[in-house]
Amino acid sequence: MLLIMIIIATTVWTAIWLMLPAYVTNASAVLFGGKRPIDHGLYLGKNRILGDGKTYEGLFGGCSAGLVCGMLQQLYDSSFGDFPQFIVVLLALSAGSMLGDLTGSFLKRRIGLKRGVPLPLIDQLDFVAGAWLLLFVFAREWFTCNFSPDVILAVIVITPVLHLLTNYIGFKLGMKEVPW
Ligand code: CTP
Ligand code: MG
Repeated sequence: MLLIMIIIATTVWTAIWLMLPAYVTNASAVLFGGKRPIDHGLYLGKNRILGDGKTYEGLFGGCSAGLVCGMLQQLYDSSFGDFPQFIVVLLALSAGSMLGDLTGSFLKRRIGLKRGVPLPLIDQLDFVAGAWLLLFVFAREWFTCNFSPDVILAVIVITPVLHLLTNYIGFKLGMKEVPW
């Protein structure tokens, strides 16, 4: 029993550590979120292309914060591979997570959901999908070596929990308009 708990805790810890640059990218997009919408206020049909919740400030601020976080982790234990591999990995984690987030909002607008209206699972996991897609395309070996099936499962289970928790904190601190 104790052994099982230790194995689960280790897996969860690995999942959080490897995904941390993506988490930081996503969370700090809220902090940097600004005034210049990436879609420039344009519409596709009756709805905005992306909406006011996706800004250039959030995009670049979020990616930069995620990269800085990853660099610090890399200095600590080289989790993200050797030079220059780790640069590709960190770019995939940060840019991929923003790509996933934008794609999620794009899809939400296409099905007619206004900015901030919740879409369970997509809201919590779109950025994970984006990060994994870019890792799979640009750093496949590192991805498959590090994201074993148990780590993948841990990410899918813990990300929605962490996401809801941080969003609730952001809402309480007045940085987010809705608690999800
Ligand atoms: N944000 C931003 N730019 C981004 C991503 C996020 O400015 N590229 C900021 C916005 O202020 C946004 C907040 O972070 O409102 C939370 O992001 P998210 O929950 O993804 O956006 P929502 O407002 O919920 O909009 P959507 O319905 O499109 O998910
Ligand atoms: Mg959202």
